[in-house]
Amino acid sequence: MADINRQVILAARPEGLPKESDFRLQETPLPQPGAGEALVRSLFLSVDPYMRSRMSGQSSYTKGVQPGEVLPGAVVGEVVDSNDPRIARGDLVSGMLGWQEYAVAAAKSLRKVDPDAAPITTALYVLGIPGLTAYFGLLEICRPQPGETVVISGAAGAVGSLVGQIAKIKRCRAIGVAGSNEKVRFITRELGFDAAFNYKETGDYCAKLKEFCPNGVDIYFDNVGGPITDSVMRLINTRARVSVCGQISQYNSVEPDVGPRWFGQLVLRQAKAEGFLVHQFSERYEEALRQLSTWLREKRIRYREDVVEGLENAPKAFIGMLQGRNIGKQLVKVSAQVESVTPMLRHGAA
Ligand SMILES: NC(=O)c1ccc[n+]([C@@H]2O[C@H](COP(=O)([O-])OP(=O)(O)OC[C@H]3O[C@@H](n4cnc5c(N)ncnc54)[C@H](OP(=O)(O)O)[C@@H]3O)[C@@H](O)[C@H]2O)c1
Repeated sequence: MADINRQVILAARPEGLPKESDFRLQETPLPQPGAGEALVRSLFLSVDPYMRSRMSGQSSYTKGVQPGEVLPGAVVGEVVDSNDPRIARGDLVSGMLGWQEYAVAAAKSLRKVDPDAAPITTALYVLGIPGLTAYFGLLEICRPQPGETVVISGAAGAVGSLVGQIAKIKRCRAIGVAGSNEKVRFITRELGFDAAFNYKETGDYCAKLKEFCPNGVDIYFDNVGGPITDSVMRLINTRARVSVCGQISQYNSVEPDVGPRWFGQLVLRQAKAEGFLVHQFSERYEEALRQLSTWLREKRIRYREDVVEGLENAPKAFIGMLQGRNIGKQLVKVSAQVESVTPMLRHGAA
């Protein structure tokens, strides 16, 4: 085991799209676990859109990150030392351990990952926050009924790719909006969406949506906001439900965006738009994870991971994700497993 730790820290608050110079790699002494704590070696880390707001110091799910601090983020890792009976050396765990090779964490904050149940990276995707977000954001906020039309923006990303598949499981029509032809092919041919279009090649989103949603839109799962959302809102049906999951088109904006004001549509259509944070459902995570695991095992949910190698490339992966370079979940491989025996990625990735 190394005696130094490598960490990615925020060097400067980004303005607009982050630059690699907004991040810095630093070396620090290896931390030592205290009572009730474990030392975890990172294997994979997750880069997520919410981190962009935290870099600006804006309010987000939790407090902002300050320049000089390690970037926060979910990690799957291997326990290399433990001072708590609940966690043993060699255990695989997930937790909010940040962009670094090693982290000390309270044992009670770590979730054990079973490598025999699913590939360990799924703890950051289908069986992690993106899966839980798709599950509750669709099923709880929108209550889909068979035959309804569900439109999903950001449809080929981590959350969106799962929302469409859950909509199909619930016997709805799933229509995706995504940023490349390859993404459109992925979600229609591999994931079973009924139709999708590449918004970067389409001037008139509304015309495309009308073509794919001849009976209007019953449910809109919004990951992006901005002009795509403005177009979908024009087509919502009476008693439509809109799940406001994220607004990624705004995350790099320096000035607040002003667009069509569509509250009138909610009145006219007696529709509901509801924002949510996945953590509000934390008491029901186990129930959702059981269901998601079953769908994964039955191959009713498929997925694709976009893995970048090396902690030093985490900023590049993050910036690329904000620009739409990822298909499925963007991950960073920090190091290889040494303690455990189970090969990864052996269950049904798409
Ligand atoms: N409410 C919650 O608790 C919660 C929890 C997790 C995530 N979220 C939100 O869910 C959304 C998706 O997150 P994710 O982790 O699944 O990320 P993701 O979709 O895997 O990656 C982000 C995607 O956003 C799209 N995008 C970027 N800029 C865009 C723009 N200007 N207009 C349209 N699309 C744009 C890109 O795809 P294209 O190529 O298609 O543009 C990119 O691949 C985010 O808004 C995130 O904040 C919310």
